[in-house]
Amino acid sequence: MLDHLPDRKGFFGEFGGRYAPEPLMEALAGLCGSYRELREDPAFVAQYQGYLREFAGRPTPLTRAARLTEHLGGAQIYLKREDLTRTGSSHINSALGQGLIARQLGKPRLIAATGSDFHGIATAAVARLLAMECTIYVAAPDRQRQSFSADAIERLGATLVAVKTYVGTLNEACSEAGRDFAANIETTFNVMPSVIGPHPFPMMVRDFQSIIGRELADQLDDDTDLGSLHLLAAVGGGACALGLFYPFLEADRVTLTGVEAAGPALEPGLAAAKLALGTPGVYMGTRTLLLQDRHGQIRPTRSVAADLDFPLVGPELAYHHRRGRISSATVTDEEALSARALMRRLEHLSISLESAHAVAHAVRLAAELPAQETMVVLVSGHTEDAVDRARSGDE
Ligand SMILES: Cc1ncc(COP(=O)(O)O)c(C=O)c1O
Repeated sequence: MLDHLPDRKGFFGEFGGRYAPEPLMEALAGLCGSYRELREDPAFVAQYQGYLREFAGRPTPLTRAARLTEHLGGAQIYLKREDLTRTGSSHINSALGQGLIARQLGKPRLIAATGSDFHGIATAAVARLLAMECTIYVAAPDRQRQSFSADAIERLGATLVAVKTYVGTLNEACSEAGRDFAANIETTFNVMPSVIGPHPFPMMVRDFQSIIGRELADQLDDDTDLGSLHLLAAVGGGACALGLFYPFLEADRVTLTGVEAAGPALEPGLAAAKLALGTPGVYMGTRTLLLQDRHGQIRPTRSVAADLDFPLVGPELAYHHRRGRISSATVTDEEALSARALMRRLEHLSISLESAHAVAHAVRLAAELPAQETMVVLVSGHTEDAVDRARSGDE
C-alpha cells in the first residue's frame, strides 16, 4: 500500500520490513572508501577520461548564439552544448563515471531512475558498453510525455519499468530505484541521476559533472573578464548546474545563476523551485532544501520539464545558494515553452524543456546587460531526434 503514497523514507524505508538498514549503510560506507581511492587512482581517472573522449564525444563545443544575441540586443550569449554528447545530454558524464565504479566494485547490474528519457538512455548505454544488466525506472506519466524514448532505452538492452504511483514524477521513480537497490545491494549499483542521495553520491556526481565547467574554463578566451561573465543553468536536482559552476566557485566575480521550474505558477504544490520555496529537511538520505508541508510531507510538484519536476535539490548546491555564492531565478512553464520556440526559430536548435528554463532567464537578463558582458547558458539536452531536429530548422 505504501507504494501508492508519496513516501519520504527513500533509501531507508521500511517497506513491509523487507529491508534492513545495516547492509545498506555498509555498502555506502564501502562505496565512500572505494571512491576516495578511485578518484585519486591515475589508471581509473585515465580510463574515465578516455571514455568521455571516445564514447561520450567530449569536449562539447561552446557556440555563439549569434541570432539570439542580435535579437535581444545586449550581452553576448554563448551555449555550452551538452546536447551534442553521444546520448544527447550531460547525464552521460556521471553515468559513465558511476558505471565504471560499479564495474570496479564487481557489480554486474546498473539501475537508474529517470524523469525525461536522458538519464535512462545514458545509463542503458553505459550498461551496454560495459556488458552489464540494466533496469530503468520511470514514473508512468513521465513515460507518456511526448518526447520520452522508451524505444531507445529498450533497444539498448535495458528493462524499462513504469512505476505507477500517486503523483507520478521522477521523485517516485527514485524511490522505486532506491527499493531495488536496497533489496539487491550485492549485485546492483544505483546510478544517481543528480547530485542527490546519501553520501558519497552527491560528491561523485558533482565530480563527474564538473567536466562541464572545467572544459568551459579552457574554452574561454584568455582575456575574458571574469567580472563580466554570467553562467546560467537549469536546476532539477542540480547536477548540471553544479557541474558547470563548481570550477568557478572560487572565481568570485563570475555570476552563477541556477534557474528553477515555477511550473504553472510559483506556488507551493505547483512549482518545483526548491531554492526559492524549499525548507531544510532530510530526504533520500541527505539533509537539504525540500518542498515539504509543515508536517514534513513531500509536496507534489508540476513542471513541463520532467527532470526539473522534483522536490529536492542537492545539498551542496543548496549550501552555496544559502551562503550567497549561487543565486537563483524561476521560470514558468509558459516562459520555458516560449524560450524553446525562440531557440528553434532563431538558432534552429531543439533544446530540452529543462534547458529552455535557463534560456528563458537569459532572455530576460540579456537586454539589461551591456554588449561587453558575456552569458554562457548550459544546453544540457536536446528535445527531439535527429530527424525532428533537422526539420525544426525549417520552422
Ligand atoms: C535534459 C536535462 N535533464 C536534467 C536537467 C537538470 O537536472 P539536474 O539539475 O538534476 O541536473 C537539465 C538541465 O538543463 C536537462 O537539460
